[in-house]
Amino acid sequence: MLLEKKVSVITGALGAIGQTMTRMFLREGALVIGTDLDKAVREEEAFIERVGREFGDQYIILSCDISKVEEIRSLGRKISERGLVPEILVNNAGINYLGYARDVTEENWDHILGVNLKGAFFMSQCIGKLMMEGKGGAIVNIASQHGEVANLQRAPYCASKAGLINLTRALCLEWAEYGIRVNSVLPTFVLTEKNEQMLMQSGRYRTYMREIPLRRYATAEDVANAVLFFVSDRASMITGQALAVDGGYLAK
Ligand SMILES: NC(=O)c1ccc[n+]([C@@H]2O[C@H](COP(=O)([O-])OP(=O)(O)OC[C@H]3O[C@@H](n4cnc5c(N)ncnc54)[C@H](O)[C@@H]3O)[C@@H](O)[C@H]2O)c1
Repeated sequence: MLLEKKVSVITGALGAIGQTMTRMFLREGALVIGTDLDKAVREEEAFIERVGREFGDQYIILSCDISKVEEIRSLGRKISERGLVPEILVNNAGINYLGYARDVTEENWDHILGVNLKGAFFMSQCIGKLMMEGKGGAIVNIASQHGEVANLQRAPYCASKAGLINLTRALCLEWAEYGIRVNSVLPTFVLTEKNEQMLMQSGRYRTYMREIPLRRYATAEDVANAVLFFVSDRASMITGQALAVDGGYLAK
């Protein structure tokens, strides 16, 4: 197993990619601390119970709104009080609203940047400090192909994901001396239930697929596999990288 007994914190752990990653990490022997909003913890009770039955003490879920720094610090304290020292952090929580730049409100901007960029930074700072007291570790930021290239109706999202890609490099430089590797994964459109509906309703299902050279959408497993590689010892010399899981989208 690639992650035997490694304490792994995953944000947005009850979303589509988060759930897939949680199961993959658990099967690889990790102790997973999944975090998400209270609302998600209530709505995904069935998933939490199922995974809890299957994996027992290997799985912990703690609620935390990562846009609030105080909640992040309280999460850090709860992890330490349990005597756990994280070796892996996946900053996976992320949000977006589709809309043209001229219509973006201050509230929209602050919400998207607050979760996607500020949340990922302060989670990294909090969990990174715990890693520094331990054996070091690996952080993966889930960015997006839209952090490298732009697309319509996503100005705050594109800005947040571009920021996350360069934040990855900045943390890689500062934290290498503590044995902490920091990388980012840049998925193309992932065929989650929510996305499939959006792609169908907007009539863009075929248009966007034609823009992906491999002519298929990514799956949550495709993304989780790339993350698993980065956090495993197989990537022990790799840090500061941005790996696109995009079927060739960014090669054009
Ligand atoms: N789905 C895609 O096509 C796609 C493509 C590229 C990148 N991504 C990125 O992958 C990540 C996961 O996407 P997904 O498709 O699973 O999305 P999702 O909406 O299914 O899951 C996101 C999770 O983040 C949680 N979350 C939202 N705000 C939060 C907050 N303030 N604090 C803590 N948790 C919060 C949500 O409750 C949800 O469980 C995101 O960062 C997203 O930007 C997704």
